[in-house]
Parts: sequence; structure tokens; C-alpha cells
Amino acid sequence: MPTKHMLTGLAICLEIVAGSGLASTGTDDVLTALSADDLPLVAQGDKIYQAHCATCHGVQLEGQPDWKQRDDAGFLPAPPHDASGHTWHHADDLLFEITKYGPGVIFAESDYRSHMPAYENILSDEDIVAVLSFIKNTWPDEERQWQEKVNGNRIVNQLPRNKGSTLLEKLFK
Ligand code: HEC
Repeated sequence: MPTKHMLTGLAICLEIVAGSGLASTGTDDVLTALSADDLPLVAQGDKIYQAHCATCHGVQLEGQPDWKQRDDAGFLPAPPHDASGHTWHHADDLLFEITKYGPGVIFAESDYRSHMPAYENILSDEDIVAVLSFIKNTWPDEERQWQEKVNGNRIVNQLPRNKGSTLLEKLFK
């Protein structure tokens, strides 16, 4: 019997695979891009991360223990933002919307319960782009390249077919 978390993970993966040839603009009709190689912006994002995100997502982006396991009340712990998590499975625009409007945007559920606040009234759009650009800047090349494919929404054609692919194993772990 699959756990609720496994189903959630599957839903997220299906959401990516279901992407057609057109890039989705998500909830707010604006397609937001991150700038992970803009080093002044990344430095600004590092400060914002430590001030606003590190208490839950970890000073080293390591997340909370047992982050895949919902607690008895149905809440997920904060996942890592480094390569061991799945932040890099999502397109820039979705990461922006999760942070701005709250994780419920993934599930299109307005009553989705999460410990993570929506940052809409806490951080400016530029600060949200900065903090996510900082996170993206830390990913190794392989994860960066994968995430660029998700951004281009060409993922259906680009999925590695070889079952032994370590990247595929990581994606569906
Ligand atoms: C109070 C704790 C808390 C804080 C503070 C917090 N988050 Fe989260 N975050 C979470 C939790 C818990 C989740 C898992 C989503 C859920 O609840 O279903 C999450 C998920 C996410 C995700 C989705 C990751 C994925 O793999 O799907 C992103 C992106 C994210 N957070 C970014 C941020 C950023 C950026 C900040 C700081 C501006 C931040 N979070 C601050 C608790 C927090």
C-alpha cells in the first residue's frame, strides 16, 4: 500500500511529465526566471536564506530529519534544498510560486496544510528570486542541467531512458 507521501511524490512527478511543449506560467500568469549565475544577486539571496529559510531548511540546505515522512497531523518536515532533495526537480517559475504563494500551489489545494508560510507579504518578488537563485547556484552541474530541461519543459523527450541512470534513480527515489 503506497504511503501518502509516495502518492504526493508521484503527483509531483506526473505534474512535470504531463508538461506539454508549452511552458506553463502557473498560478500568476507570469513566467519568473531565476539568475543563478548573477553573483551579487546570489550573495543577496544567501543573506535572505539565512534570515528567512535556514531555521527550517537548514543552514547548509540539509533540510529536517525524516523529511519524506508526514507527521501524525499530516504535515511534512522541511525538505533539503541541496542535491539530496527535490527542489531541483521543479522549474524556476514553480519554485517562485511555491515560495510566494505557499506549497499548496503544487497541489492546487487552497486548504493544503504546510508549516511553510507564503512569502507574498514578507519578501519582495526580487528577494524571492534572489533567495531561489542562491539555492540554485549551489546545485552540482548534473542537477543544474536537469533543471534547465524542466525549465524548457522538454522533459518528456529528455527523460533518460536507461533505468540504470543514477539521475533517474534520484528523481524517483
Ligand atoms: C517554518 C518552516 C519553513 C520555512 C521558514 C521555510 N520553509 Fe520552505 N518548506 C517548508 C516545508 C515544511 C516544506 C514542504 C512542503 C509541504 O509542507 O508540503 C517546504 C517546501 C519548500 C519548497 C518546495 C521544495 C520541493 O522540493 O518541492 C521550496 C522551494 C521552499 N520550501 C522554499 C523556501 C524558501 C525559499 C524559504 C525562505 C524564504 C522557505 N522555504 C522557508 C518549511 C519551511
